[in-house]
Amino acid sequence: MVESLKKKLSSRFPLIVNLSHQKGGVGKSTLAYNITHAFSTLGFKVRLLDIDAQNTCGGLNSLREKPFTSIEKVVDNKRLVEIINNSSTDGSEILIIDTAGCDSDLSRLAIMGADINITPISDKVTELLAILQKYSKILEEIDANTDLSISSYVLLNRVHPFSKHFEHIEEMIESTPQMTILKSIVRERAIYDKSLIEGRTVFEANELEGHEVAMDEILSICYELIEIHINKE
Ligand SMILES: Nc1ncnc2c1ncn2[C@@H]1O[C@H](COP(=O)(O)OP(=O)(O)OP(=O)(O)O)[C@@H](O)[C@H]1O
Ligand SMILES: [Mg+2]
Repeated sequence: MVESLKKKLSSRFPLIVNLSHQKGGVGKSTLAYNITHAFSTLGFKVRLLDIDAQNTCGGLNSLREKPFTSIEKVVDNKRLVEIINNSSTDGSEILIIDTAGCDSDLSRLAIMGADINITPISDKVTELLAILQKYSKILEEIDANTDLSISSYVLLNRVHPFSKHFEHIEEMIESTPQMTILKSIVRERAIYDKSLIEGRTVFEANELEGHEVAMDEILSICYELIEIHINKE
């Protein structure tokens, strides 16, 4: 199954995935860092563009004994546009973008340039409101000012390990124009934070509780992204 997905995706390179939300602390960097490593363990050539001035992913990488070579800091609009534009001819396979938790021209460029935008939220009502009332307006504004069709996939992150029913959230997201909910869900697990202490991903923290399930959660996102991209018009 993995091999056939990989083969199908190779005809649709590059895949540009942007982790984006104007709200801070929702898990963009943690997920971007782990998703990047997951794609590389699957055998893809993947680059992580850290466009957040906080430099979270770059900072995590500097904690590593052996830093990843795939993480690149991007601070200006021109450079981001250049990388995105060149990605269709320079042999890029997968680009992951980690955006700052605020609305800016740079983060809007990333939203416009991505094939898939992911917006992480928890299953808390206040977080749901933040995307329904604010983030959706950002998407609408970009959509109205460009001829691009702008959308985002909402990813439930930090969901309580025992929570089961998300129908009310799914309904609200699906009734919001330009938003769809991902089937993959990431639960609240200490490993997501603890593994970062030494700049590791959950794939490397095999001594920590939840290693296997956390890897499965991140890989499930990767497979879902591949499916979405290969099924796009
Ligand atoms: N599924 C999870 N389970 C447990 N902790 C998590 C999970 N996802 C993220 N975290 C923790 O939540 C905190 C905030 O995450 P992160 O820095 O990735 O958010 P962010 O959206 O990138 O924030 P910012 O907008 O400030 O860049 C971190 O301590 C991270 O380890
Ligand atoms: Mg961040």
